[in-house]
Amino acid sequence: MKLADNKATLSFSNGSPSIEMPVYSGSIGPDVIDIRKLYGQTGMFTYDPGFLSTASCQSAITFIDGDKGELLYRGYPIEQLANHGDYLDTCYLLLKGDLPDAKQSTDFHKLVNNHTMVNEQMQFFLRGFRRDAHPMAVMTGLVGALSAFYHDSTDITNPEHREISAIRLIAKLPTLVAMSYKYGIGQPFMYPQNSLSYSGNFLRMMFGVPCEDYVVNPVLERALDRIFILHADHEQNASTSTVRLCGSSGTNPFAAVAAGVACLWGPAHGGANEACLKMLDDIQRMGGISKVGEFMEQVKDKNSGVKLMGFGHRVYKNYDPRAKLMQETCNEVLAELGLENDPMFKLAKQVEKIALEDDYFVSRKLYPNVDFYSGIVQRAIGIPVNLFTGVFALARTVGWIAQLNEMIGDPEYKIGRPRQMFTGSPRRNVPGAK
Ligand code: CMC
Repeated sequence: MKLADNKATLSFSNGSPSIEMPVYSGSIGPDVIDIRKLYGQTGMFTYDPGFLSTASCQSAITFIDGDKGELLYRGYPIEQLANHGDYLDTCYLLLKGDLPDAKQSTDFHKLVNNHTMVNEQMQFFLRGFRRDAHPMAVMTGLVGALSAFYHDSTDITNPEHREISAIRLIAKLPTLVAMSYKYGIGQPFMYPQNSLSYSGNFLRMMFGVPCEDYVVNPVLERALDRIFILHADHEQNASTSTVRLCGSSGTNPFAAVAAGVACLWGPAHGGANEACLKMLDDIQRMGGISKVGEFMEQVKDKNSGVKLMGFGHRVYKNYDPRAKLMQETCNEVLAELGLENDPMFKLAKQVEKIALEDDYFVSRKLYPNVDFYSGIVQRAIGIPVNLFTGVFALARTVGWIAQLNEMIGDPEYKIGRPRQMFTGSPRRNVPGAK
């Protein structure tokens, strides 16, 4: 952090003395006003529910320019990574700060591949769930339970523990997501096959069965790898902030990531791809493309409680760059599977077209986000709707860990402890007490 040329001055209309606060500049993006001494100097807090104007940390991992619609991982544009990289190299980049050279890449792929199996006992833990449990309920439990199985990597203050827990989480999440799927449909679990790519292995664990060979389709393998890259990190979103806050107490990385999984589940965050597909299904049931206009009227009616899922973003006030890439992938996957005339895809395109021309959306700068097309791609691949957020969690795990490790290594790191403006009853007595 470097001091900017100017300072901020806060003055009060009641004659209290004004105070000066330092301003810092990052490498790109808005400057920040350092308010850490505000309470000590004035006895006042700032008030910013939803963190609309508050930077909760400094970070060198991911940068979003919401107005331009730009997303950079460690400085690299997401389009370049999605078109020229693979997911595990992206993981290396997020964790270590630079893209790996050829040897580092081979070693890292090998290292992750060596940790894909989960403790056999996890199966028995999983069997305690109802078969119809939502996979995100199961995933929250399974990820948290990893800390009960891997005691040798739970000390967040030990860099070796952090390193090994990072690799374990990245390697085991696909296995756990696939296990929760297989459990739900009553099929045998598929052990990982380490000669396959990260996404090829996931496809096999999801759709393979022990009695038959499974041949990975390279188009679907590449599409899934791209979904993983696009979801790998997104700076201080709700689940990442949850992981940081949870980890700030010194809890172990598995517990902190389980908190991230729980947060991601919500429909305003990672659950949006599931909610988006459900919405498209509902429009389809109403009558399809001819009913899009009617549906949009409901969305624009504030009393209806209906939102256009997959649209809008706290940070992007332009097209989400991930949505553009996902739309390309959607075209490729549907062509590969002979589903070019998929009615859901056609409907999605019509909804997007109408929304992009409608003043309600234009004036509020509401554009499609990544979830608008990712559900269609996943459904075409054969992933059930209720597992979409699990796939998002799998991909985001690396971002959560990179951010958690960055926080622990930050000399300014403190337990996160927001303040409040209290609006309840002042002190009063229970009847009969003094
Ligand atoms: N449909 C209809 N109206 C919307 C939508 C939407 N999807 N999103 C925002 N608005 C309206 C909102 O009602 C408000 O209108 P007004 O100014 O008249 O009160 C205005 O746009 C600003 O919205 P906001 O609620 O203040 O924006 P926010 O930053 O608090 O919310 C959001 C961001 C993503 C929660 C919201 O846009 C939303 O609920 N979108 C649908 C869910 C979704 O697709 N979420 C995935 C986000 S991307 C994946 C991820 O990173 O997790």
